Amino acid sequence: MSLYCTKLFRIQNPLLSLIQITSFSLPLIRASTLTTRASLSSQSNMVKAIRVHQLGGPQVLKWEDVEIGEPKEGEVRVKNKAIGINFIDVYFRKGVYKAPSLPFTPGMEAVGVVTAVGAGLTGRQVGDLVAYAGQPMGSYAEEQILPANKVVPVPPSIDPVIAASVMLKGMTAQFLLRRCFKVEPGHTILVHAAAGGVGSLLCQWGNALGATVIGTVSSKEKAGQAKEDGCHHTIIYTEDDFVTRVNEITSGNGVDVVYDSVGKDTFEGSLACLKLRGYMVSFGQSSGSPDPIPLSAIATKSLFLTRPTLMQYVVTRDELLEAAGELFANVASGVLKVRVNHTYPLSEAAKAHEDLEGRKTSGSAVLIP
Ligand SMILES: NC(=O)c1ccc[n+]([C@@H]2O[C@H](COP(=O)([O-])OP(=O)(O)OC[C@H]3O[C@@H](n4cnc5c(N)ncnc54)[C@H](OP(=O)(O)O)[C@@H]3O)[C@@H](O)[C@H]2O)c1
Repeated sequence: MSLYCTKLFRIQNPLLSLIQITSFSLPLIRASTLTTRASLSSQSNMVKAIRVHQLGGPQVLKWEDVEIGEPKEGEVRVKNKAIGINFIDVYFRKGVYKAPSLPFTPGMEAVGVVTAVGAGLTGRQVGDLVAYAGQPMGSYAEEQILPANKVVPVPPSIDPVIAASVMLKGMTAQFLLRRCFKVEPGHTILVHAAAGGVGSLLCQWGNALGATVIGTVSSKEKAGQAKEDGCHHTIIYTEDDFVTRVNEITSGNGVDVVYDSVGKDTFEGSLACLKLRGYMVSFGQSSGSPDPIPLSAIATKSLFLTRPTLMQYVVTRDELLEAAGELFANVASGVLKVRVNHTYPLSEAAKAHEDLEGRKTSGSAVLIP
């Protein structure tokens, strides 16, 4: 199923609206806590979720009943409406990144409705539509318990499925383009996997910031999508040598920054594409971890090298609200068109993983409970 969402509603100043929603909900009234307790007692503690008992291929994702507790102080219980699928879920399933324990429920992004709040909690109430991305892991579930300070309100103008498919990937694009290396008009940027979930947003946002965008993709079809998303130049890196092509496109000057999420297959080529004092932003490893390099590899052009993760850019509540606010504002105003190109029932998460790893997906993929 393909759902190409542009602006849903245009609001005058979406960022302001988000902040208003956020601060409005802070002084919460006691009545909602009472409602919460009432609704909590009628809720079952058994929900369906995807569980991983042993690391491995997509087949280790099992559809099971799990017990979830009641929200404690500082926590909310959320009934998920849509769950974003991210490549990081594959890393945890395979053991590239270590989950704290086995078995575990994967997933780091979802949007849902608050169905209960922990005792004494202010700032969230039953019925709030909220989004979260990052820790704690466990969003591949019908319902989950979350720390209240990790969820943000979803502006009414944004559809929950869109929000769930853009929260983690969009905040990643936000910190990469706006904080890690600050993209400005006149810059030339190289985005690998330009038709992917994060890639699609990097291209659109980079273009809107005034950069010349070069994107690599594995097929003609994906190149078409990347063009629509604002790539000025596309390179099919499975057919053409991307270093040679970037050299031609930039007349030998190189690019200001490479956003490299592919890793092993592209890392060294990416360094070769950079101009003097360029920025190598290695933020993923879809093809495997890059091989180690000697310091001298970045010394020849005085390059900057960083390996950033979203979690370290949304550490404080203010950082989280700022990243989510800027993202939702750009979605609401139509700067970012969110491509929800694939939806799967939550119970079929294994199929979704198969497609993501098999490079069959483009844009975002979501699970629907
Ligand atoms: N550092 C962070 O905080 C952070 C946050 C979010 C995401 N990420 C990283 O960003 C990357 C993109 O994440 P995403 O969820 O949006 O996934 P995605 O880009 O939608 O999917 C991965 C894409 O990578 C490309 N790819 C190249 N070689 C591949 C290979 N050997 N196997 C599989 N795919 C390969 C494919 O595009 P082509 O077919 O066009 O080659 C594939 O569609 C991931 O590496 C992820 O870990 C990092």
